[in-house]
Amino acid sequence: MLYSKEVDQSGLVRYGILGLGIGMAHVGAAAVCNKCVLCAVADLDETRRANFNAEYPDVPAYNTLEEMLAAENLDAVSICLPTGMHADYAVRAMEAGVHVLVEKPIDVTVEKALPVIEAAKKTGKKCGVVFQNRYNFGLDPVYEALSDGTLGKIFLGTFAVKWHRDAAYYAANGGWRGTWEMDGGGSLMNQSIHTVDLMLQLMGKPKSITSQMRLCGHDIESEDLTVSTLTFESGAVATFTSTTCAYPGICTEISLTCENGYVALDTDKLTLWKLRGATPEEEAEKLARYSVGNRKAQKLCRGRLFGHKRVIDDFCSAILEDRDPAVSAEEGLLPLRVICAAYESAKSGKTIFFD
Ligand SMILES: NC(=O)c1ccc[n+]([C@@H]2O[C@H](COP(=O)([O-])OP(=O)(O)OC[C@H]3O[C@@H](n4cnc5c(N)ncnc54)[C@H](O)[C@@H]3O)[C@@H](O)[C@H]2O)c1
Repeated sequence: MLYSKEVDQSGLVRYGILGLGIGMAHVGAAAVCNKCVLCAVADLDETRRANFNAEYPDVPAYNTLEEMLAAENLDAVSICLPTGMHADYAVRAMEAGVHVLVEKPIDVTVEKALPVIEAAKKTGKKCGVVFQNRYNFGLDPVYEALSDGTLGKIFLGTFAVKWHRDAAYYAANGGWRGTWEMDGGGSLMNQSIHTVDLMLQLMGKPKSITSQMRLCGHDIESEDLTVSTLTFESGAVATFTSTTCAYPGICTEISLTCENGYVALDTDKLTLWKLRGATPEEEAEKLARYSVGNRKAQKLCRGRLFGHKRVIDDFCSAILEDRDPAVSAEEGLLPLRVICAAYESAKSGKTIFFD
């Protein structure tokens, strides 16, 4: 809910948001969350602060984290700055006594991310990482059919993130995107980390990764295309491709070839559902229900939250219930570890093995 003098804040998380790019999705989510009060935001950019205040005139907008923390008695903040600043600001915030929700990835390398985990342990503050695609509606029957054994063992996973990003996207906001120092990489780190996270959710612990990367269609420092093959402790294998050079409108494709069936998704929608022994009617029914995407699903399942709304709701519940958030800093580190290994493999020409 939004801050106003009339709001009774007892029992609610007093929430602040640092960075007003994707931070505006956190704003929208906090504004409708019944477990927190959006008390303040901060951004160095005057235009973004003014746009925010045009929509939310009663919520104060500060320049910096320090100004916001000094002026407001906050319980928690979202860190929505360029990636290479995440760990520094997350640690500062936890040391100043607030719980922290960090946008993905935790930072640009595993080494830079580790102090966030240490700070959470040392301060006792909650630290969550944003991976909102875990709540994509089309995944529901897949998670279920994997956990109850209906699909059987996974033999092969294919994951392809084929997105379009133009030159203006990379040039915007000081040009931090696509740089190693502030974005940690290109199409794999920035756009595909959500799908790497889903791959780990679906396929379990990886054993090794072998990757190649290319810079094909942009004037950036890192990559705009990667191809990887992975092996998993379960014995399964996967391919993972990422690019920001695709024709506009092409999305994310996921497929699982399993012992008892085959399932495929396009972003948040189920596109194929084939189960040994299932009738065509049963398959069609599953597709009709789960091929609608998150927006329509929101209407279908009243009360269910998707995307950033679900992440903020879970994070505030974790604070109020004194439990770990759905994606803790330790868990948020895993996709970052895989991506850094992919870059190491592409640079060295070697297969990288995970401990
Ligand atoms: N979960 C998702 O789907 C998703 C989507 C987009 C971006 N992201 C992540 O969110 C992060 C931010 O991305 P973005 O697209 O919003 O970037 P952005 O450049 O649009 O926004 C960053 C904001 O931070 C502000 N800022 C920079 N330094 C600051 C400082 N020291 N103090 C206060 N404000 C400061 C900038 O003025 C800018 O408004 C990145 O890590 C990105 O990977 C996640």
